[in-house]
Amino acid sequence: MIKNKLIAIPTETVYGLAGNAFSETAIKKIFALKKRPEYNPFIVHIKSFTYLNEIAKDIPPDALKLAEYFWPGPLTLVLKKRDCIPDSVTAGSDTVAVRVPNHLLTLELLAQLDFPLVAPSANPFGSISPTSAQHVQNYFNTEIEVIMDGGCCERGIESTIIGFEDNQPILYRHGALSIEEIEKVIGPVALQTNSESKPNAPGMLSRHYAPITALFVTTNINQTVKLFRGQKIGLLVFKDSLINDGILDKEILSASGDFLEAASNLFGAMHRLDKLNLDVIIAEKFPDKDLGKTINDRLERASKRK
Ligand code: TXA
Ligand code: MG
Repeated sequence: MIKNKLIAIPTETVYGLAGNAFSETAIKKIFALKKRPEYNPFIVHIKSFTYLNEIAKDIPPDALKLAEYFWPGPLTLVLKKRDCIPDSVTAGSDTVAVRVPNHLLTLELLAQLDFPLVAPSANPFGSISPTSAQHVQNYFNTEIEVIMDGGCCERGIESTIIGFEDNQPILYRHGALSIEEIEKVIGPVALQTNSESKPNAPGMLSRHYAPITALFVTTNINQTVKLFRGQKIGLLVFKDSLINDGILDKEILSASGDFLEAASNLFGAMHRLDKLNLDVIIAEKFPDKDLGKTINDRLERASKRK
């Protein structure tokens, strides 16, 4: 059915641009459509934990523990790849990124297929990730044959990526599962010290998840708003900033101060603000814990000009 075709799939994190992980034709199409550099590897989406062994080998005990505990869910594991995984999927690396997504429609689709799906986020390289079918359609109006509409993504932010060196877990990308939750299951996780020129996970590239409008991240909204007086300003705040003067639009991510809710609203709010033709988006820095870390990571990357 979709042997060589592309299909946009809903997941609990963000929408993916999916294709057969064993089809070079599908893989080439994804690279071309996303304008994605070829050094950037894909995540392989499998239907259940049981299939992990077909994709990866020499799996560290902590990886198995995490997979059993969190799948289906927003956790990607980077593991030694089996020979059947094409080099084009892993960008030539001997490791492969793999996860079981947690969305009913996509799990049903995977159950009907006899191959796994590679699925990068369904946005042009570097731009804001899509958290609704409409976002995907706005990016790729006629270029994708099928967009499965599974509603708004529950988590709204990409999966957390964990790799291993000498069986020790390392965080490659902050994501929808907080480090605190992961450490409760396997103990301390090291942070990757990343070289910008050769990032292990290009989600780690400095400019990423970026709107077209200039975005500034600040701990002091009042002061930053004053700096931009007279310009068309949009605010992106956690609870509420109580500032309305000279503001064209304000997105409150969670009135009750809930990290999960804020994360799930983040990209949608960025998409909306980016459509308003503003001069600047001023975003409030989150408390540096739990999903606040992930949100700060996305805001920082969105604020980079290159
Ligand atoms: O939540 C998600 O993970 C979403 C949904 C659709 O599943 N997918 C997603 O894919 O965010 P993408 O392609 O936008 O980001 C995948 C990240 C990239 O930063 C890539 O570099 C990293 O995974 N990655 C893939 N394979 C890797 C590997 N072998 N080693 C290190 N990083 C890897
Ligand atoms: Mg992406």
